[in-house]
Amino acid sequence: MSAIGTLETGALQSGLDFPATMPATLSTDDTNFARERDRLFRRAWLAIARVEDVPAPYDFMRFAIPTVGTAGILVRDGDGLLRAFHNKCSHRGVALVCEDRGNATSFRCPYHAWLYDVDGVLRGIPDSGSFQHVVRAENGLKPIACETWNGFVFVNLAQNPVPLLDFLGPFGDLFEPIPFHEYPTGVEMTQTVQGNWKGMIDASGEGYHISSLHRSTLHPQVAVIENPFQDFHDPRYLGLHATATLGRNPEWLPTTPVARFVLETIQQDYLEDLRRMEAKQGIAGAPAINRINLPNFQIEAITLFPNSLIQIIPNGYLWMQYWPTAVGRTETSIRLYGRKAPQTHREIFAAAHIQAQARDVITEDIAMVELQQIGLTSDPEGQQIFGGSEYLLLRFNNLIARFIQADDLSKMLQDL
Ligand code: FES
Ligand SMILES: [Fe+2]
Repeated sequence: MSAIGTLETGALQSGLDFPATMPATLSTDDTNFARERDRLFRRAWLAIARVEDVPAPYDFMRFAIPTVGTAGILVRDGDGLLRAFHNKCSHRGVALVCEDRGNATSFRCPYHAWLYDVDGVLRGIPDSGSFQHVVRAENGLKPIACETWNGFVFVNLAQNPVPLLDFLGPFGDLFEPIPFHEYPTGVEMTQTVQGNWKGMIDASGEGYHISSLHRSTLHPQVAVIENPFQDFHDPRYLGLHATATLGRNPEWLPTTPVARFVLETIQQDYLEDLRRMEAKQGIAGAPAINRINLPNFQIEAITLFPNSLIQIIPNGYLWMQYWPTAVGRTETSIRLYGRKAPQTHREIFAAAHIQAQARDVITEDIAMVELQQIGLTSDPEGQQIFGGSEYLLLRFNNLIARFIQADDLSKMLQDL
């Protein structure tokens, strides 16, 4: 193992050689976390919000990048432009905005009442006579690079970040037509995981564990006899990012009364979504989704490098974010987006039940990532072994190593 803790040399060169291993220290060593924080999370574009989170002029929200300790404000100015700033008053550093979200034409610091416009300009200093040495033009809110792509809001903490479209590469072109905006209603679930963040991404990068770990939850819904280990279909490598297609079991029917009640409740809307998908409309009908026309399509599973997963389903999408705060601790956010919010009590119950089912599956994954952290920490000289069906994991961890090593990110992206 080299000092930088890369994958085995052969795997690193080809990206896809098998068998391949990954040193345990990549998931257990504090210095590796520091390297990921400084070389990956401080240099990559990070998806932090949807434009629907701040839809109107002067809407604002706080955001955090817990990996690097960034407290941010995302605000839409009077012209509709989105801007991001550090949530920090230039006077003595107090976090300026204390509400999670709101609408304001200016921000006033709660400490000594310095006033900022939503474009970050320092507008007012009480008792300005004692601050004549302060150049207002140089002491506005400190900006953070902020760009949007297809309704996702990205920030980048680097001084001179690579252009977002270069970072997105072929993924950005292929998935630009996907109408995420037609599915604006979201619910969010958050949880702290006592495990390494890469383990959470890896847990969604293979179907190998479905028949064992998820045997009583997800497995009956997806298992088909011709694909006993739920291999993903049609993997596509799109620069830093990747996507693959997953099917479902067309024979599956709910077995409990409550699950039948839920299915009956959503059935009409769901069938409408399936019809739209077959007519090549809606989120799952876009050409980039289910390129192979897999019958019984269930999920297009996208890895949005470095720390987001987007799973497109016939009636909406899930967006998972994994933010490491230490080598063995990860803050997770899982959002489910749909076409319309549930209205009736029955619909609200059904939506909550579906969320709970999703949570059950994710909780099973989280339990494994936490046990994995215990095992890998116990034997730091050990390794993880990737099999032939775990190619997305190998590639993802390989790309992290390359990104961390690269001094010239533009060149690294061109070489992908
Ligand atoms: S710290 Fe903000 S006005 Fe003093
Ligand atoms: Fe899983």
